[in-house]
Amino acid sequence: MQANIVLLPGDGIGPEIVAEAEKVIGEIGRIFSHDFRLSHGEIGGCAIDKYGDPLPDSTLETCRTADAILLGAVGGPKWDDPNAKTRPEVGLLKIRKELELFANLRPIKPHRTLIEASPLKRDIIEGVDILFVRELTGGVYFGDSELREEQGQEVALNEMIYRTNEIERVVRVAAKAAMQRSQSLTSVDKANVLEVSRLWRRVSQDVVSREYSDLNYDVVLVDAMAMHLITRPRDFDVVVTGNLFGDILTDEASVLPGSLGLLPSASLGEDGPGLYEPIHGSAPDIAGQGIANPLATILATAMMFQHSLELPQEAELIEKAVEQVLDAGHRTADIAAGTESISTSQMGQKVIEAINAIA
Ligand code: IPM
Ligand code: MG
Repeated sequence: MQANIVLLPGDGIGPEIVAEAEKVIGEIGRIFSHDFRLSHGEIGGCAIDKYGDPLPDSTLETCRTADAILLGAVGGPKWDDPNAKTRPEVGLLKIRKELELFANLRPIKPHRTLIEASPLKRDIIEGVDILFVRELTGGVYFGDSELREEQGQEVALNEMIYRTNEIERVVRVAAKAAMQRSQSLTSVDKANVLEVSRLWRRVSQDVVSREYSDLNYDVVLVDAMAMHLITRPRDFDVVVTGNLFGDILTDEASVLPGSLGLLPSASLGEDGPGLYEPIHGSAPDIAGQGIANPLATILATAMMFQHSLELPQEAELIEKAVEQVLDAGHRTADIAAGTESISTSQMGQKVIEAINAIA
């Protein structure tokens, strides 16, 4: 097959980890004789430096015509000035919105040899396998905002807003995924306080009872969910929630597998290219040292093969290779727990070798 893939390395460790994923894409192309055409674009702080814009039109246009997009990370202290005209994160939010990537899939599945890397007890995390589906183009992230002055006080306002169709479409994505897993779907909201959550609850309940009545469906308040996630995470299969709650809960859930460096994500729309990225940030403190963990980005590449390129065999091969590398005890510093560690590019090389050994 032929596919156009856009790489957006971004800032901090982004270029280092995307470089390893790029090698994996090349290797898969070679083994399966696919014609992958790769192009590079700029997003985030590096794009601000060069164009004064965290998502230049040229990047956006290249992405629109792509089959899939792989992103590293954006942001860093260099662009953190609160008075700056724009920020790297604006580029990320804009690409999500412009490409209508409303469903963000974040799988959380601790690897068996890394259970000890988690600060939580083994009997809590063993067997955890959760798929978060976070709404990504609505809610308080994209409502109106205002900063004004009122009777000598500064007043800041953010609007949290959801429309029926925005809730329906993301709940459908989550319900479909649940049908292919353990048929269990949990919707998370704050319906005891927020009007927007009461609508979310009503609409998601309607979608499930009308279209997916075979599912075990449950609703949980977000504060309780924060607690359940670290006391009984095994009880959850697919979890669907709004943009802000999903942002917070997935950072919390990332503690379960021990390292953020292992977790991929996929942002999908109705059609058009999907955007794939690790869920961790740009880690400016370790950028340029060649010690970042490239596995989350490599696993994001597997999700790209699965969802955008419809190459499930290739996706599975990458996932198996990563598993084998971890089973063999290879560790970057973030998961080495004081034992011997290997570099970013050595880890990438280990994955390539494992891919070839399995293929
Ligand atoms: C994420 C990040 C982003 C978000 C930031 C960088 C804007 O935290 O993808 O979870 O809040 O969505
Ligand atoms: Mg986040």
